[in-house]
Amino acid sequence: MLEIQNLRKTFLQGTPNERRALDGLSLHLEPGEFVTILGSNGAGKSTLFAAIAGEFLPDSGTIELDGKDITYQKEHLRARMIGRLFQDPLKGTAPDMTIEENLALAGLRGNRGPFSPAVGKKDAAWLREQVARLGMGLEDRMKTRVGLLSGGQRQAITLLMSTLSVPRLLLLDEHTAALDPVTAEQILAVTREIVAEHRITTLMITHNITSALSVGARTIMLDRGRVVLDLSGSERAAMTVPKLMERYRQQSSHMLDSDRMLLS
Ligand SMILES: Nc1ncnc2c1ncn2[C@@H]1O[C@H](COP(=O)(O)OP(=O)(O)OP(=O)(O)O)[C@@H](O)[C@H]1O
Ligand SMILES: [Mg+2]
Repeated sequence: MLEIQNLRKTFLQGTPNERRALDGLSLHLEPGEFVTILGSNGAGKSTLFAAIAGEFLPDSGTIELDGKDITYQKEHLRARMIGRLFQDPLKGTAPDMTIEENLALAGLRGNRGPFSPAVGKKDAAWLREQVARLGMGLEDRMKTRVGLLSGGQRQAITLLMSTLSVPRLLLLDEHTAALDPVTAEQILAVTREIVAEHRITTLMITHNITSALSVGARTIMLDRGRVVLDLSGSERAAMTVPKLMERYRQQSSHMLDSDRMLLS
């Protein structure tokens, strides 16, 4: 369903600050797959999401979604099919609008939702039901401005907004990293529930190796702009945090070695 081939992106090419962020990255996702992504700072994880979402055009390579080449498709067209959450809980919602208004607007995404920003009684009831399922008691605060909510509550609303009109692909970029541990767990649980219910094909970036191995059914690791580890099935089930860290260390030093070989 998502087919990425040989994706390359170098930022600030030809300057002293040149950064090769994606270096021939390839990735294939089956419909409904939930894949977690690990990788050290600067590995290219967020850049991969930006490329998929169409924030910039890659230098080379292709991106297909549902068999359609979207490599050069405009960002706003892709946004209809792709949901995206960021680390910053303030990013996805309009603070001066109420929970209900935010959700009603989100329902318009992809022109598939039955909503307009003016919420009718029936829609209001349905939205309230969806919010109740978050298990945070927010259904009794539908008329509250989102700016008054906590980070975790806001991220939950953002998650709901991104999935009310079910996306073809959901991109989660460390969406629980800015939350306290208890709230992070709560948001993660809600994420799993929503993703499972709609069988949304999902990519989730996390720095938490335990969550990476326990959420979803496949874990990939990025290093220097490419996939260096791809775990699923029994191999993933048998993987532990220390073992994974060791594999990563081996992988990284191996890459350092081969770089040195190239340089010498
Ligand atoms: N717009 C940009 N302009 C210049 N360089 C960029 C830009 N975006 C990313 N980079 C560089 O590309 C590389 C990959 O960055 P990216 O943000 O994808 O890393 P990441 O894996 O998400 O890291 P982190 O875990 O820190 O979020 C880094 O060297 C980064 O500095
Ligand atoms: Mg990042």
